[in-house]
Order: sequence, then C-alpha cells, then structure tokens
Amino acid sequence: KPTIFSGVQPSGIPTIGNYIGAMKGFVDLQDDYETTYCIVNQHAITVYQDPKTLSQTTRLLAALYIAMGLDPQKSTIFIQSDVPAHAQAAWIVLCQTGVGELERMTQYKDKAQKQEVVSAGLLAYPALMVADIILYDAQYIPVGEDQKQHLELTRNFVDRFNNRYGNGKDLLVKPEPMIPKSGGRILSLQDPTSKMSKSDANTKAFISMLDEPKTIIKKIKSAVTDSVGEVNYDKENQPAISNLLDIYSALSNRSIDDLVNEYHSLGYGKFKSDVADQVVATFEPIQQKYHQLVNSQELTDILVEGAKTANETATRTLSRMEKAIGLTYKP
Ligand code: TYM
Repeated sequence: KPTIFSGVQPSGIPTIGNYIGAMKGFVDLQDDYETTYCIVNQHAITVYQDPKTLSQTTRLLAALYIAMGLDPQKSTIFIQSDVPAHAQAAWIVLCQTGVGELERMTQYKDKAQKQEVVSAGLLAYPALMVADIILYDAQYIPVGEDQKQHLELTRNFVDRFNNRYGNGKDLLVKPEPMIPKSGGRILSLQDPTSKMSKSDANTKAFISMLDEPKTIIKKIKSAVTDSVGEVNYDKENQPAISNLLDIYSALSNRSIDDLVNEYHSLGYGKFKSDVADQVVATFEPIQQKYHQLVNSQELTDILVEGAKTANETATRTLSRMEKAIGLTYKP
C-alpha cells in the first residue's frame, strides 16, 4: 500500500478549514493507504503555548481525530513528542538546509511578523516537518494549500540528501502533496482575503470543530458577503460566497455546480441558513463522540500504542540516515 503521513498542530481547537483542507481527507484515505497521522505538539511550541492549555489541546486533537472517523486499527495515531526520532532527524535536516531557504518560507514570514521575539525554532520549523514526513517514507501528504511551500522544501531536501549520500540509490522517499480540488484554502468568514485560522483574534472569523450549533449558525449568519445578490462560484469577484460554496460542497459531497444551480437566485439568507445546517449536521455527531472519548483511558491507550508503532518505523529510518552520513562508528 502507498504511504500517507500528515499532521495538525495542537495550537488551538481545529477549525472547519483544517477539517476541509486536510483532516477530512485523512479519514477517506485509511482504507487504500498505509496511513500515519501525528499531533505535532513540537511544531506548536515554535510560538509560546500555555503549558496546561497545550497538553489539553493535544488530547483534544487526538480525540477529534478518532471522533471524526480515524480508526486506530487502520491508522497509526500518535503524539510527535512521543517519538524522539523527529527532533533527531530534524537536526540532520537543519544541518543541510540553508538559512536563506528557511527565511523564504511565507508561513515563517507571516508568523515572525506577529512575534515580539522570533524563536530559532520558528525559523527551523519546516525542517521538523521534513523530518516528520521522511521518517515514515511517506509518498503522499494530505494538506491544505498553505503547506505547499513546505512540501516543496521537503522534496528539495530529499533530492539533495539522495544525491549526496545515496550512491545512486534513493535513501529517502520523495513525497507529493495531496491538496483537495476545492477547499484547499478555506477563507476567514470576516475577511475573504485571508485564510481561516484557529488563532485569529476575531472568533467570528472561524468556526471551530467544537463550536456549538447556535454559535455555528450565528457565525455563518454574520459572515461577510457582497452586493451581487446571486450565488455564483467566482473567487475573483465573489470570494466570500465562493468560500461558503467550498464549505457546503466539501461537507455535503455535492458538486459546486449542483449547489450553484440550486441556490443561484434563492438569496443569501436561505443559502447561508442551509450552509449552517450542513455544518451543524457534519459536526454534531463528531462532537458527541469527542465528548465520550476525550477523558477516556481508551484514548491514552490508543496514543501509547500509536507511539510504539511510530517509534519502530521512525527509528529504522533515522538509523538509515545516520549511517549514510557517517554518524556511526561500529565497523
Ligand atoms: P496546521 O496545524 O496549521 O493545519 C493543519 C492542516 O490544515 C490545513 N489548513 C487549511 N486548509 C484549508 N483552509 C484553511 N484555512 C486551512 N488552515 C489550515 C493545513 O494546510 C494543514 O494541512 N505544518 C503543518 C503541520 C505539519 C504537517 C507535518 C503536515 C507538521 N508536520 C507533516 C503534513 C506533514 C501545519 O502547521 O498545519
């Protein structure tokens, strides 16, 4: 089976943007691929996290993974800091990555702007992501559009490493991003020029996967629209309406064309109310399962088991890398 790896940061409650852009795909891939999904808590600490909150959101995200349909019998689910090979491999990646390459990353530039003091970890962040991916020989990486540049960096690293150390063999697997055709970039409900983000200061800009039905309805009702008055899929001229169409389409599995046909002339009020109903219908059952799981021993057991499996694979790849670059001494 082809291999899949992906991760989400426990830096807050994931949004429906995280779900549509990446997490929903995690579930769909379980049957036909060898899937490994991580909660990347070491990525989260590249900016300050309140310790207690971080440990809670780590568990929260793990519970959401399972509540939305990941099956620990089919997928390896684990916490990044449970597998030391990630940080070890990241060091090797860092030593072979230019500072300039890292400084060019747009996510770094965006995030650095918002920090009073920029940690070296924030700059190094993509190297840790490279490590995550290569340790599992991952071929396909389900992510949203904003991760494309990090994937490109990963591909360049793999080429460089294989060329330098492979003696004609591919020591590491070159991954490809898997980005959904629509929904790869879900926009803020308040400002359709920026992406929906779980750390947005304006909570009306995003819907979290744990928002209550009445909050979801309120947020969609107050989402900005435009003065056109007709539902069209036109990202240029009607970005806010197109965004609601992306959300509706992804969650209902109905095509954009189909939705535009139905809602074109029905008015924004009716359209928004049906989008809201769909969002509630998708997340209510997930939330119910989430609440049953989040404090359970079962969840802890799943993560301990996941870490065991992940450690085996990751340690094996790390040794391969160490051997290739000479971090060995035994004959
Ligand atoms: P993170 O935690 O910011 O987001 C998790 C996933 O959600 C996607 N995403 C979106 N998709 C559509 N619309 C949006 N508004 C939106 N916002 C976020 C992201 O593209 C991502 O797929 N660096 C990664 C985490 C990571 C990772 C990895 C991913 C660490 N190591 C290895 C894949 C493989 C990140 O910050 O995602």
